[in-house]
Amino acid sequence: MKRWIAVLFIVVYSTLGVKAKEGMWIPILLEKYNIEEMQQMGFKLTAEDIYSVNKACMKDAVVLFGSGCTGELISDQGLLITNHHCGYRAIQSHSSVEHDYLTDGFWAKSRDEELPNDNLSVTFLKSMKDVTNEVMEGISDDLSEEEKDKIIEKNISSIKKEAIKDTHYKAELKPFFHSNQYFLFINEVYKDIRLVGAPPSAIGKFGGDTDNWMWPRHTGDFSLFRIYANKDNQPAEYAADNVPYKPGKHFAISMKGVQEDDFTMVFGYPGSTEQYAPSNHLTMITQKINPELIDVRTRKLEIIDSYKSDPAIRIKYAAKDASISNSWKRWIGEIRGLEKLDAINKKKDFEAGFKSWAASTNKYEDIFDEYDRLYEDYGDYRLVYYYINEVIFRNGAEMVRASSYLDKLVREFKKPKPDSVMVNLYKAEARSSFEKLFKDYHKPLDKEMTAMLLSIYQQRMKPEFLPDIYNEIQKKHKNNIEKYVDKLFAKSVFAEPELVFSFIDKFSAKSINKVQRDPAYVLYSSFYNLYRNKVAVVYGELNSKIEGLNKRYMAAQMEYQDDKVFYPDANLTLRVSYGKVRAYEPRDGVLYKNTTTLEGIIEKDNPDIYDYRVPERLKELHKNKDYGKYEVDGTVPVCFIATNHTTGGNSGSPVINANGELIGINFDRAWEGVMSDLMFNPVQCRNITLDIRYVLFLIDKFAGAGYLLEEMDIVM
Ligand code: ARG
Ligand code: ASP
Repeated sequence: MKRWIAVLFIVVYSTLGVKAKEGMWIPILLEKYNIEEMQQMGFKLTAEDIYSVNKACMKDAVVLFGSGCTGELISDQGLLITNHHCGYRAIQSHSSVEHDYLTDGFWAKSRDEELPNDNLSVTFLKSMKDVTNEVMEGISDDLSEEEKDKIIEKNISSIKKEAIKDTHYKAELKPFFHSNQYFLFINEVYKDIRLVGAPPSAIGKFGGDTDNWMWPRHTGDFSLFRIYANKDNQPAEYAADNVPYKPGKHFAISMKGVQEDDFTMVFGYPGSTEQYAPSNHLTMITQKINPELIDVRTRKLEIIDSYKSDPAIRIKYAAKDASISNSWKRWIGEIRGLEKLDAINKKKDFEAGFKSWAASTNKYEDIFDEYDRLYEDYGDYRLVYYYINEVIFRNGAEMVRASSYLDKLVREFKKPKPDSVMVNLYKAEARSSFEKLFKDYHKPLDKEMTAMLLSIYQQRMKPEFLPDIYNEIQKKHKNNIEKYVDKLFAKSVFAEPELVFSFIDKFSAKSINKVQRDPAYVLYSSFYNLYRNKVAVVYGELNSKIEGLNKRYMAAQMEYQDDKVFYPDANLTLRVSYGKVRAYEPRDGVLYKNTTTLEGIIEKDNPDIYDYRVPERLKELHKNKDYGKYEVDGTVPVCFIATNHTTGGNSGSPVINANGELIGINFDRAWEGVMSDLMFNPVQCRNITLDIRYVLFLIDKFAGAGYLLEEMDIVM
């Protein structure tokens, strides 16, 4: 049966001519599992060229950028490229009304002008290894799960400690295959990372949320940074006399571009996927969680939209809008993609085979009864957990959430002898949090949002998940949420900047009562208490039970399909995805080409639509066909798509050709394929790459920063 399915798959795939390769592969196992196939697909280098501890290799040119993106080295002087959306926070932090780098772009004309960034680091992988046996040392079947966990934890911490003894490296030890395997990572973290250049948002974010997750795409999503090191080329805190880092390896940049069927490889840090989850999980996501979250976010976006005609408010809410919209759009695509794939039934068919095999194992036959039992409650808890987050924490009721910014101060003043140093520190922290809040804040919008969230929460959540505050709203306001919210905003000290800041300045033990009786804080605590006392604990327990079961199910799947090569779920460790440049059919009768060009940007140009305002300078270059050496067939290439299996975190990853040269920067996926986090469909899943030639064109022709190209190795 199993073999038969495998044969059928090969037949189906090859008749479609799809040579997509699903998977995010472990660099040290390429030699064993992938390199042969990669070479058959066109790759001309070896596994050692990608990962090696004996010689300089591609891994030495790839970094985890910050804590959730990828970046890569493109010169021997520490020059690094990542996405604009990955550098966004850094670019924003240097922007002010006088220097609006988000709007105008930024180009350091010399090393002195490169801008340092607090709280930004890049992480190089020095080496990795399988340490499963070491982690499992001392584990035997007669131990309870808790005992096992304790031993594992202890082993992990001593392995890590030992591994980096007497070095400045950092160790990370991560579970793979749902804790059936463990890998140790030795990393080197650089902290002096300076901003070198970024295009204006009208290029770096061109198409905005309208085009986000979509193909055809025309976003110039890149930014440039430089890594600085001490005189010994080692990591150091920022210092003016630090010097550009000399990497072991940097990517050569290819001007050759891509053709349909060309081999591509993405090397980066995918964050998280759930490829081996049971059908129960997909049913829960598609039928319960995503639809509810989509609904609440649709309402959020509608409210923000209704204020957007005022440019000041639009700017204040731009980042929030983008973040609400990003997952919202992905969830919608995920449902659609899974339905189109008939994913739940595919899983169920697989599970039917699995169950009849498991019945005879004496080991795994209970797995699905357990899943069925756990998922009965899990969906409700997961939903309310996410929902409270939507209401309070994730771009929800902003002022209400902010009322908790004084928590540390309150705690300090509850002590018999508050420490004045801590008091001052907490005051400063609270002030700065409120400054951040009010910088991008519009009270009428927040009020409308708060009322909407409170009423939808009441409508959608089960009565046992309604926090106490609803009793009060019922009693005092006859359940008129709008009236209640009016009062809330009229009475709370947190709704007015002047009140808040003077309240913080004068804060003393006597202020505690005032905080605790403040209507915003009362509302906040009511949700927070429910969250902490009723939801988070049970949700956490269910999660760990399910994770325990996932571990067994993963092991069982590997036994059941003992001739299949498995790749582990993404877990923010360095991985290789490979595939081919490939056009696709998003819908019946529609064929999307594999590349876009500058012509598409000009086509989209529309001064009335914020996302589609093309900078004058770019229009001028287009009008004069001033493309220099970046011209291809009378235009400039902008983006391309391929079949690489990627996910969040892969943004900024190098996209590499058959010769190991950089041809582009990965930044997104096409909407029809975003279910790839749960199930990959080679026919529909495409990663979207910014063509490196557009990057060079922008730096050189658009920004006049061609001096930056001098330190790159550009090959024809
Ligand atoms: N969808 C891409 C990713 O998940 C880009 C997100 C940033 N852009 C945006 N318009 N929100 O990171
Ligand atoms: N845009 C995502 C990121 O920032 C990439 C993706 O989800 O495909 O990592």
